[in-house]
Amino acid sequence: MITIEPDQSDVIAETLASPNAFAVTDANVYTLYGPLFKGAKYYVTGAGENYKTLDAVEAVCKKMLESGCGRASRVVAVGGGVVGDTAGFAAAVFMRGVEWVNVPTTLLAQVDSGVGGKTGVNLGGYKNIIGAFHNPQSVIVSLNFLKTLPGRERLCGLGEIIKTAFLDGGLNAFIDAELSALMSFEPSALEKAVRLCIAFKQKIVGEDFRETTGRRKILNLGHTVGHALETVDCHRLSHGEYVLWGLLYEAFLTKDYINPLHYLKMTTTLRRVLKGKKLVFDAREAAAAALADKKNAADGRVSVIASRDIDSQKEMTFTVREIEESMTLCKKEFGL
Ligand SMILES: NC(=O)c1ccc[n+]([C@@H]2O[C@H](COP(=O)([O-])OP(=O)(O)OC[C@H]3O[C@@H](n4cnc5c(N)ncnc54)[C@H](O)[C@@H]3O)[C@@H](O)[C@H]2O)c1
Ligand SMILES: [Zn+2]
Repeated sequence: MITIEPDQSDVIAETLASPNAFAVTDANVYTLYGPLFKGAKYYVTGAGENYKTLDAVEAVCKKMLESGCGRASRVVAVGGGVVGDTAGFAAAVFMRGVEWVNVPTTLLAQVDSGVGGKTGVNLGGYKNIIGAFHNPQSVIVSLNFLKTLPGRERLCGLGEIIKTAFLDGGLNAFIDAELSALMSFEPSALEKAVRLCIAFKQKIVGEDFRETTGRRKILNLGHTVGHALETVDCHRLSHGEYVLWGLLYEAFLTKDYINPLHYLKMTTTLRRVLKGKKLVFDAREAAAAALADKKNAADGRVSVIASRDIDSQKEMTFTVREIEESMTLCKKEFGL
């Protein structure tokens, strides 16, 4: 069950104080929202991607044992995607699996990672290598958390919202009307966007929970090039910002195959959102990074999702040379 409300502090405090609950959060969230954990059993991890590790999972499980947790316990993750992925995975493996509740506190986690049941941690510098599909029993989305979110993290979530707007008619119409409000992170615009993103992700995940039919792959729109840019730019920006750049470069790369009006709308929106931002990179290096990403590349070709139109996506493959040339042309076309 997913509930979305402006402020669910009481529900969260009650969930955390339940005798079966074991909370996991990170140092930043704990600093900001410490009182929520009063009377709860909890573990505080370090903040950020570097803590999405098996060590963190082991630490959570050890602390759960020490706190007397058993098979009837319920893990409650209170944090961004890192906390959700790590604590969700701990819940999937603690005593062969216990229930968990997700309380996403970043915009990215509320619109994306909080829904869908993917849990896991990184290994040896590679993302999400160890993990499990383990759906939370409930997701409590309290929009109030977004008030303390730093600008970088807001932009991160905005990247995923814009991606979803190129896949979902409802969100697309909303962006058409409310992009300025969304870009200023007005609470009512955020609430609408969170609701639409969650509904869309639930629909896609419902069609392909374990990623077996390929349907879930459309959520990778913008991500092949986005991840490559993230690699060559050494993660200087937030993930969602690279997704925004990835969406623009991928739209250009696939433009011969997509509806011209849809292409125009996508590129216009992206140029508005990216106005005043700059990403300097070497096209050859970025194309090579896309090929080196084992998740998206095979037999010397790189796979990219093309959004031909709302409700019509197609997986396409390109050579590294095609990607490099297209990136160079895209930079020229848009003066990037
Ligand atoms: N499971 C999935 O389906 C899925 C989907 C997309 C992304 N992810 C994963 O999500 C992770 C990224 O998530 P993220 O962007 O939320 O990162 P994050 O969890 O690292 O949070 C970003 C930063 O915001 C801080 N923070 C969290 N809530 C806050 C709040 N309310 N106010 C102020 N600061 C707050 C955190 O401490 C952290 O420093 C990645 O590891 C990614 O792989 C998972
Ligand atoms: Zn993403």
